[in-house]
Amino acid sequence: MNHEFADRVKRLPQYLFAEIEKVIKEKKAQGIDLISLSIGDPDLPPPPLVISALKEEVANLKNHNYSLSQGEPDFRQAVADWYKKRFHVDVSQDEVIALLGSKEGLANIARAFVNPGDHVLVPDPSYPVYSNGSTILNDGVPVPMPLLQENGFKPDLEAIHLEEAKMMFLNYPNNPTSATINKKFLKQAVEVAREKNIILCYDNAYSEITFDGYKSPSILEIDCAMDVAVEFHSCSKTFNMTGDRIAFAVGNKQLISGLAKVKSQIDSGPPVYIQKVASKALESYKSAEQPAFLKKTNQTYAERRDVLVDYLRSMDFMCDKPKATFYVWLNCNSSSIEFTTKLLSVGVAVTPGTGFGEHGENYVRFSLTQPKERIVEACKRISALFGCADSQ
Ligand SMILES: Cc1ncc(COP(=O)(O)O)c(C=O)c1O
Repeated sequence: MNHEFADRVKRLPQYLFAEIEKVIKEKKAQGIDLISLSIGDPDLPPPPLVISALKEEVANLKNHNYSLSQGEPDFRQAVADWYKKRFHVDVSQDEVIALLGSKEGLANIARAFVNPGDHVLVPDPSYPVYSNGSTILNDGVPVPMPLLQENGFKPDLEAIHLEEAKMMFLNYPNNPTSATINKKFLKQAVEVAREKNIILCYDNAYSEITFDGYKSPSILEIDCAMDVAVEFHSCSKTFNMTGDRIAFAVGNKQLISGLAKVKSQIDSGPPVYIQKVASKALESYKSAEQPAFLKKTNQTYAERRDVLVDYLRSMDFMCDKPKATFYVWLNCNSSSIEFTTKLLSVGVAVTPGTGFGEHGENYVRFSLTQPKERIVEACKRISALFGCADSQ
């Protein structure tokens, strides 16, 4: 028997998060009190309305059949209604598709449109799925677009060689840098994509995790974006439903239909009851304003962010307070792996920036997915490690 992995699988780098999870498990098994600020999985529960809807929809025996591959019409309508309320953008049901998490959609979109050898522009650093699950596993060639601090962690779209690119991924609010953008940048991205005939995949998974009055725009608010773009949203971070695997993409009809065509041969969409629950969660928006549950969630993250950033600053690290996401991206002024290993020695797990690409070197990512007391405890351990008096 020949059990050799296919070449495209051999080309995959190690999935860093799986490696980190392994180390965390090992440390915990050794009885070490490990504070994990590494993985982006919220510690907060879904809102009560999600839990009660889940109980109700699971109990409905009609909700256990196959879904339509593109998703249930009611769910797609709930997404369209949410777009109207949240972004003031009109979309139709055939411009919406239900996803088994946005990760799945981000991976499958390339399967629908990328031919072997096609170039795919991928931010560096970035969520690894754009480069790996999406591009490499579909025999495309990832072309990194550096995200530099001096450019506000935005790619320099004028400097990038765009001619041969078939697809481009962008993600704001950004993981891992937590950078945000304004509509001017989105306008430039849409113009470039239209001019160079590039499919623009816009990952807006953190659109609702925002602070200090910042509101994340949709790329579909930009004129003519519908010609070239597909935007990905997720209930994972918005409603703390990471394990329920429900997300959606909205955009150009041809792009959505390509994704639906691929998915119809691979999966049969998210469970009907999960789509019904997600519809109810989206319906909790009565206007562009966030529902009370999200305001509270964001307040919790903002408090944790303040504690962490204030501590880091007191240790003389330069660190911005992000306006969105539950990440803090720290320039650690040293090798990101060495810095991570140092923190692990005092039982604090963070993610080395290099796990997100070459330009993540000298950075580490903290996730604000632990209660404030644990973040304070982590900060105290880090202060002690660097010989700083605990001034907080
Ligand atoms: C930028 C970004 N996009 C997409 C995802 C995938 O989320 P999900 O598949 O749970 O919707 C994540 C998860 O961490 C992420 O950070």
